[in-house]
Amino acid sequence: MRKFMTTTAMAALMAMAVGGIARAADSVEVLHWWTSGGEAAALDVLKKDLESKNISWTDMPVAGGGGTEAMTVLRARVTAGNAPTAVQMLGFDILDWAKEGALGNLDEIAAKEGWDKVIPTALQQFSKYDGHWIAAPVNVHSTNWVWINKAALDKAGGKEPTSWEELVALLDKFKEQGITPVAHGGQPWQDATIFDAVVLSLGKDFYKQAFIDLDPAALGGDKMKEAFDRMTKLRGYVDDNFSGRDWNLASAMVIEGKAGLQFMGDWAKGEFVKAKKVPGTDFVCMRFPGTQGSVTFNSDQFAMFKVAADKVPAQLQMASAIESPTFQSAFNVVKGSAPARTDVPDTDFDACGKKAIKDLADANASGSLYGSMAHGHANPASVKNAIYDVVTRQFNGELSSEEAVKELAAAVEAAK
Ligand code: BGC
Repeated sequence: MRKFMTTTAMAALMAMAVGGIARAADSVEVLHWWTSGGEAAALDVLKKDLESKNISWTDMPVAGGGGTEAMTVLRARVTAGNAPTAVQMLGFDILDWAKEGALGNLDEIAAKEGWDKVIPTALQQFSKYDGHWIAAPVNVHSTNWVWINKAALDKAGGKEPTSWEELVALLDKFKEQGITPVAHGGQPWQDATIFDAVVLSLGKDFYKQAFIDLDPAALGGDKMKEAFDRMTKLRGYVDDNFSGRDWNLASAMVIEGKAGLQFMGDWAKGEFVKAKKVPGTDFVCMRFPGTQGSVTFNSDQFAMFKVAADKVPAQLQMASAIESPTFQSAFNVVKGSAPARTDVPDTDFDACGKKAIKDLADANASGSLYGSMAHGHANPASVKNAIYDVVTRQFNGELSSEEAVKELAAAVEAAK
């Protein structure tokens, strides 16, 4: 009798334990900044994919494009000893967390699924630390894009601008039409996103010297003054209410024909797609004039934090789901990005998506693919934030171009 009870009790306990493990293992908590309409639609593809694998999702959204606010919340969570399972993260931030020893290890799943062969080296630079996989790349975005309202462009003669002068002429025509020429939100990361493209438009070598090599001569030279002059010129084409506006509301201005164009990464396309707009019919996507052939990229990756052993299986399943070629296609079609694998067919992508995939491959082959300064793929956060600060103050008229050039070189030097 005693033996029977013990066995029964033990069996019950074991069932509870297994059930308990199953429950804990079957959930992920995900911190991210995908809160706009297009971003949420893309995130839903991931949530549903995991749900179909019986993994439940605890959402931890932190609004704020570019992820600045999300990174602040993350720091607080980790300091409190309560790291989420997976965190949307950009470039150098991933490496910083890895350096702190906060991230888990995806080597086993990466080896089993052959990630090394299909994920481009430009992304692996940020998905691996010390030779170990620490993050699962979801996509590749790029920042040197222009999103134009097609009807407004047609009214202006229909020609896509291919040089700085043609761009300025087009913006003048938008002004004559009585619409806001440039839809923009005055937030440091958005100003910096335009600056990525403006600096690249003055030469890919210049971009590399300034933002990748952090060469003081490039940061503090005449070309940089010209870049700031271009920013001043563009500032003249935004509306009076631009300050603090979220990027997706600026995209909406272009979608609704209230503005002519927006300079923004291809997450903007997610907003056009969500609004059922079609490339070539309702809007035009093109590279920032003067940057054709080059790409400034950023990749959203899910950095996997060290979590309790019972949570690791779901974390690995999430990583595996993200790298599946079918998921890569389904997600990135909605998000506006290109897949993080080189073997995903472009069949389901629209014209802008196909162009994004091709541009990336071409830029990679010709050595014209650079990490985005604005989106954490050129420098660690300390340097990035130092650049943001100068760019924003200059854009808002607090610094002349001459002053900005001096401050930029000094601020970067101090932050290095
Ligand atoms: C991310 C995108 C996101 C955008 C705006 C970028 O840093 O890479 O995924 O859509 O910020 O929030």
